[in-house]
Amino acid sequence: MGEDLRTERELSLDFLRVCEAAAIAAARTMGQGDRKFSDQVAVEAMREVMDSVPMRGRVVIGEGERDEAPMLYIGEEVGGGFGDGAEMAAPCPEVDIAVDPLEGTNLCALGANNAIAVLAAAERGGLLHAPDIYMDKIVVGPSSRGVIDIDAPVKENLKNIARRLGRDIEDLTIIVLDRKRHKKIIDDVREAGARIRLISDGDLSAGISAAVAGTNIHACIGIGGAPEGVLTAAAIKCLNGEIQTRLVWDPERLGVDKDKVPPEKEVLERLKSMGINDPNKVYDTEDLAPGKKIIFAATGVTDGALMRGVRFFGSGKRTHSLVMTSESKHIRFVDSIHIEGGPDTVIRF
Ligand code: FBP
Repeated sequence: MGEDLRTERELSLDFLRVCEAAAIAAARTMGQGDRKFSDQVAVEAMREVMDSVPMRGRVVIGEGERDEAPMLYIGEEVGGGFGDGAEMAAPCPEVDIAVDPLEGTNLCALGANNAIAVLAAAERGGLLHAPDIYMDKIVVGPSSRGVIDIDAPVKENLKNIARRLGRDIEDLTIIVLDRKRHKKIIDDVREAGARIRLISDGDLSAGISAAVAGTNIHACIGIGGAPEGVLTAAAIKCLNGEIQTRLVWDPERLGVDKDKVPPEKEVLERLKSMGINDPNKVYDTEDLAPGKKIIFAATGVTDGALMRGVRFFGSGKRTHSLVMTSESKHIRFVDSIHIEGGPDTVIRF
């Protein structure tokens, strides 16, 4: 990415616009029951605004492979630093981009809480090119950094988190995706005595909540998407928290029939072709988001713990976002009003 913090500041504002556009488009479809359509409009809106950003961007986590022909495919070059007039736009920062235009497609389709539009960026090589498979994850905030271990029993992790937070295990709230594969984790958390919040979707926003004091979420544990894991790591790095992960492809661990996931041989070959030689490696925050200049932006689509969803008020709309930078160390909660009406438009506090 560019040499100075000015670039970081300007890009973070640009990425805010990108996420706001995706969130607004998705929010218009809220509750329509069509998750694919909600995702599609978010992708289109994100892609369109992305092209107005003066950068030479490369998608490293996106909507799929090039041959599937999606927008924002992995490897796609995005931003205003390419194509006609690119030489005019120089010097453009070179940026790797990870996107999830609509995280929680079901949540948006149902009008449920915690759907968000997300983007993370870093200098080239600053974000892991994660395969689109599953990942075991444990995410905590700054107070519990250094005391978690993805291989330790759940109770031990909870004991350590509670100690760091100066409270009893009974006072902790742990978020877990409500999936069959998590039966043991759920049983273990219950047995340890902690409180549990089971969520239907959205372990990315859950992970972010775990790293922000005051949300009353103290950890997020379980298996979710690997791309979401990288995006979570980008946020966690800005928030000084910790994430530990490991790739998972074993159908038994995933609680699905063998024919529902690609055969192990295929997965291992794919991982190798992506440069992952040790598929059992534990990836920590630095492995997932090694960049020095991370920018993370997210906008609420529906209401959530940290951000409100998009509100439409006739002569405009209002969005609530989180924009963070790891180098200049800013965490910004941004309340934007997008005015569409005339001079009589009333702005409310
Ligand atoms: P989408 O936004 O793609 O619908 O993903 C939502 C999500 O719940 C993620 O937050 C999570 O990591 C993943 O899906 C879990 O996958 P699965 O639903 O297959 O268990």
